[in-house]
Amino acid sequence: MDELALRGGPEAAQALDIPDWPRCPDGARENVLDVLESESWCRVYDDAQWVDRFEERFADYHDADHAIAVANGTVALEVALRMLDVQPGDEVLVPPYTFIATASAVTSLSAVPRFVDVDPDTYNVDPDAVADAVTDRTVGMVGVHVAGYPMDFDALLPVLDDYDLFLVEDAAHAQGTEWRGEKVGTIGDVGTFSFQESKSLAGGEGGIVVTDDDVLAERGQLLHNIGRQDGSVYRHYELASNARMTEFQGALLCAQLDELPAENETRRHNERALREEIADVDDISAKPEDDRITARGYCLFDLAYDPDAFDGLSRDRFIEALNAEGVPAGTGYAIPLYRQPAFSRATVEALVPADADVPAYRSLHLPGVEEVCATTVTMPHEVLLASEAGVRSVGDAVRKIRRCAPELV
Ligand SMILES: Cc1ncc(COP(=O)(O)O)c(C=O)c1O
Repeated sequence: MDELALRGGPEAAQALDIPDWPRCPDGARENVLDVLESESWCRVYDDAQWVDRFEERFADYHDADHAIAVANGTVALEVALRMLDVQPGDEVLVPPYTFIATASAVTSLSAVPRFVDVDPDTYNVDPDAVADAVTDRTVGMVGVHVAGYPMDFDALLPVLDDYDLFLVEDAAHAQGTEWRGEKVGTIGDVGTFSFQESKSLAGGEGGIVVTDDDVLAERGQLLHNIGRQDGSVYRHYELASNARMTEFQGALLCAQLDELPAENETRRHNERALREEIADVDDISAKPEDDRITARGYCLFDLAYDPDAFDGLSRDRFIEALNAEGVPAGTGYAIPLYRQPAFSRATVEALVPADADVPAYRSLHLPGVEEVCATTVTMPHEVLLASEAGVRSVGDAVRKIRRCAPELV
């Protein structure tokens, strides 16, 4: 007879042997010590090599012409939008299901974020919703590959083209994801990544901007380094901030990048196992498999949960039961960005020119994102680095809760 762990029974996912994250791979200690002992800690000086090396390796891995390493994923977005010459009062389309930096990078330039709904199956921008959000002030979009699952470029790019809009790919979650054989981040005009500790390429903090456009890249070089351009420390060609990555981050990230492809293979293998495990459980489902996704990167692994199929067991109670069974899971971005306290018409109006047209954010109700926020159960990517048997035990936990759901309602 089943006894839920919440009620004192044994955990169903005892075998779930999730490795510590972040982990310190072979080579990381050596690289970081090399920086420490070299006493060359800042890329501005000639002896510095590690940030250069990391940029080169990251660009190679992505088959990108240029990569500019920066302090974190938030400033990567800010630099990207400045590279594209976003001006105060311009409007930039953003999804409401994402981390706030996707939209706050827009307001940091005194531009106006306009929210475009997401597709509830993929959690990414719904290409069919773009046209409704475009105005004569719209200059581009920041799209997000949520959890590492790529945007549908086949549907999205023609729409952006019709309106002559740029695309910044916020690939903070998508280290290693490919669309039709191309790494994401390099398909739009500019791509940005985050290497914050929870990400699958972890440098504690860190970010990078990638592009194939020589002119944009030159601008990025200038903008990430307080307007310097010719190696002269005290000559500045543009008023810009300091977004540089440290040599320590570069050294650590070089070692992490060596591990990423094999780790993503493990995650992919275990994702398939987990999909098999939950295939026969009604109404808990993963995002659709799609042949155009030729490789997957991961930040999270998302499931859509329907309480009706679990005898009315609420999502929060389901997550509580899952946690008790030994599975780390949560709700993800539980509210659309337009309901974040930071987004009201007044707070954004205070940042943008007086003639800008700021939406009434608090009155928005976009059905796709509302559904995603209400139904998502998400797990961190390192769950998929456990052994296959461990990952399969997540299925045992889900089925056990399904069987016992009536006693929890
Ligand atoms: C989608 C997305 N964009 C941007 C960022 C910002 O990255 P960072 O935390 O490195 O500033 C994050 C961080 O979690 C993110 O999830």
